[in-house]
Amino acid sequence: MNRKYRKTVIAANWKMNKTPSETKAFFTEFKNQMPKGRWCDIVVCVPAVDIPAAVRALRDTRVGVGAENCNANASGAYTGEIAVNMLVDAGCKYVIIGHSERRAMGETDADVNAKIHAALGANLIPIVCVGESLEQREAGITDEWITMQIKAALAGVAVEKIKKIVVAYEPIWAIGTGKTATPDQAEQVCQMIRTVIRKMYGAAIARGVSILYGGSMNEKNAEELLAQPDIDGGLIGGASLVSEKFVKIIEAANQPIA
Ligand code: PGA
Repeated sequence: MNRKYRKTVIAANWKMNKTPSETKAFFTEFKNQMPKGRWCDIVVCVPAVDIPAAVRALRDTRVGVGAENCNANASGAYTGEIAVNMLVDAGCKYVIIGHSERRAMGETDADVNAKIHAALGANLIPIVCVGESLEQREAGITDEWITMQIKAALAGVAVEKIKKIVVAYEPIWAIGTGKTATPDQAEQVCQMIRTVIRKMYGAAIARGVSILYGGSMNEKNAEELLAQPDIDGGLIGGASLVSEKFVKIIEAANQPIA
């Protein structure tokens, strides 16, 4: 983290978990446990049907609600899809874009890029996910792969918009597996991502972009990961489903300003 230059962001990704009633119950508990300090931005990205319950429960808090996906088109014949203006109207401030689980369902780099443009156009903060597979890591092409994903994702994004973007580095082999990247491994890639952004947008912009780590981050390993200079937060799946664990991760982000 480096709170002098950029925000720390602790974001939950609930994936396909919890019903609207369970969402309501979760936030009743969470609001009782939530730290009062403001050392990080707190975000919860929930299934689309849970958004109203989350927005209602968090109305009087500073926690931002996000969606887990969006469609790049403004409206029209896209059965089952959700447009960015619908998310904004429902009370969302964030949207996860390009999660590896969605890429595995066929989402391309071009789709990710189009969704980022749509989100920024609607004033939603995109949490843009990138990450390599185990095969790619073992083949030694992690840096090339991530560089390509970042360049494709940000193609055509204007310099004044880039400040709104949050990047999440999520090695696919670490997601939901209990195999966390070591702090050194995660830092190395997050630092490399910042270098790619620096080359595209300059040092001042790159210094201000929050880059999160995701992949089996939990209440035990969060502090060490978040202590790395280029890891500005976490995108947390499994551990965000249990209020006490998510709260402990938020507390782990309360580290001295570098
Ligand atoms: P995990 O998921 O924390 O359960 O590994 C992270 C993510 O996929 O965003």
